[in-house]
Amino acid sequence: MPHPELWSLAQDVRDYLDYMASLGVDWMPRPAQPADNLGALLAPETLDDIRADLGDCRRCKLFEGRNHIVFGEGPAETPLMFVGDGPGLEEDRLGRPFQGEAGGMLTGIIVKGMKRRREDCYLTNLVKCRPPENRDPQPDETGACLPFLHRQIDAVRPRVIVALGRTAAAILLGSNAPMAALRGRVHDLRGIPVIPTYHPQTLVKTPELKRPAWEDIQRAMAILDAPPRN
Ligand code: URA
Repeated sequence: MPHPELWSLAQDVRDYLDYMASLGVDWMPRPAQPADNLGALLAPETLDDIRADLGDCRRCKLFEGRNHIVFGEGPAETPLMFVGDGPGLEEDRLGRPFQGEAGGMLTGIIVKGMKRRREDCYLTNLVKCRPPENRDPQPDETGACLPFLHRQIDAVRPRVIVALGRTAAAILLGSNAPMAALRGRVHDLRGIPVIPTYHPQTLVKTPELKRPAWEDIQRAMAILDAPPRN
């Protein structure tokens, strides 16, 4: 075989596309700028590139009711990423993730619990537009948005992803399992550890879940504190 590394790359691409198809993704975006050489093609995309490609997105029906696309916010590269399900009322109004009650709870977890600054974390959602009445995003909506989340993950290159709530965890991990089965252990998403935990809004309504959620967060902290892998 003349180029085994290209063959292996092609197989990785095929595995990735099969995996995305299994999650309901039936299209992949093209790079905004055509690459004029292999180096440019392999150069990592920036968050700005991805946001530019998202544009004034109309790839699913959620655009109809939105005021703002809530792309996500945080540093271009950071070890800690949080993924929720979708923007709510305040997030849609302001164009920023985790602003309302759930946002206050998440900020408390980051600042008081993890002793980190919220602005040092990358916060985003499965879908970037508010589902009507805060319903769960539907498969066509997560299918349209998931390639962008994957590209954000590739750009940010976190050491750990905390998936907030059953919807975010199940879609990210391609699982139908309930939260009770998903949480309590570390999952793997293409080499990145994923920790599912309760959604901050659930913790507002059900404070007795704060203790197991804290155990999940401590799992994430242990990964962040571990020496970097080569
Ligand atoms: N809930 C989410 O899942 N994401 C937000 O951005 C706000 C509330």
